[in-house]
Amino acid sequence: MSEPVLSVENLSLRYRVPGGAIAALRNVSIAVRQGEVLGIAGESGCGKSTLAAAMIDLVGTNAEVTSGVVRLNGRDILALSPVDRRRLRGREIAMVFQDPMTAFSPVLTVGAQLVDFQFNLDGLAGREKWRRARDMLARVGLSDPDHAMGRFPHELSGGMRQRAAIAAALLMRPSVLIADEPTTALDVTMEAQIVHLLRQLQADYRCAIVIVTHHLGVIAELCDRVAVMYAGEVVEEAPVDALFHDPRHPYTRALLACDPARIEAATGRLPAIGGRLPDLSSPPTGCSFADRCGIATDRCRAAPPPRVGLGPDRNALCHEVAP
Ligand SMILES: Nc1ncnc2c1ncn2[C@@H]1O[C@H](COP(=O)(O)OP(=O)(O)OP(=O)(O)O)[C@@H](O)[C@H]1O
Ligand SMILES: [Mg+2]
Repeated sequence: MSEPVLSVENLSLRYRVPGGAIAALRNVSIAVRQGEVLGIAGESGCGKSTLAAAMIDLVGTNAEVTSGVVRLNGRDILALSPVDRRRLRGREIAMVFQDPMTAFSPVLTVGAQLVDFQFNLDGLAGREKWRRARDMLARVGLSDPDHAMGRFPHELSGGMRQRAAIAAALLMRPSVLIADEPTTALDVTMEAQIVHLLRQLQADYRCAIVIVTHHLGVIAELCDRVAVMYAGEVVEEAPVDALFHDPRHPYTRALLACDPARIEAATGRLPAIGGRLPDLSSPPTGCSFADRCGIATDRCRAAPPPRVGLGPDRNALCHEVAP
């Protein structure tokens, strides 16, 4: 099996907040290989965006990595100087956000910005960068790319803007594309189109993709492998088919059971997992999910769960799961 392009190993990160700290990532280990699409799933507040941001070294100023490494093509990026880290972004790793306007300035045309995004391709003339940008807009499905090049970002529809943001990321020829909820702001049709586009691009460019989404349908459509997060930990990691057909961690089971796409039509209402996330300013000693888990025992509340290997690329953080 090929070496991972990007990996985090035992990464712990906390946010300093008035009066304490929030343990947003605890001992997270996950890797993505070339040509692979890794999904990160979990409820709101579980640490998905924090993990995605940590992978590209884009966490806020109140964030502090307390342990672990992030390796990109073998190098520990957290050990690099700030200048070298900045150089990696855009050169080897690119990010697409929920709101595509974060990628663009409102005061410059899309074309001008797509040319600027290629700052790292030193050998290319401006005219060539313009052509690459135009071709990439066509590639991501803008029907009139020449017209779009001359528009300001707000003059494009939300779906077109997200396509343009993906084009911007790909123009840099990254080895990893990290997308945080790239379809969440879009309607269902547009979401399906963006998922389809990402799948095509992944096949064409063979870059690794890490996609954060609370939408399990997107995971099922797009991903090869999934990491399910709960309260700052990866509680289950599995190939996508195995996860959907045979979820092993009680939290994964609850998450799938509550997927609105699966049961909203049947019941007419949105279900939720009972209970709440634990307080991350003082995470529990035992299993984080114990208070909401139907099969938790005293042991689950008392001791941190082991990571149980369940086969190739498959593990769960649980006292009760059998290997
Ligand atoms: N800059 C910050 N300062 C303090 N706490 C933060 C900051 N960013 C996130 N958090 C906290 O860290 C935890 C993880 O947040 P994160 O945004 O990573 O979750 P998420 O899984 O992406 O959620 P969502 O699905 O709502 O986007 C939450 O408790 C959140 O409140
Ligand atoms: Mg998020």
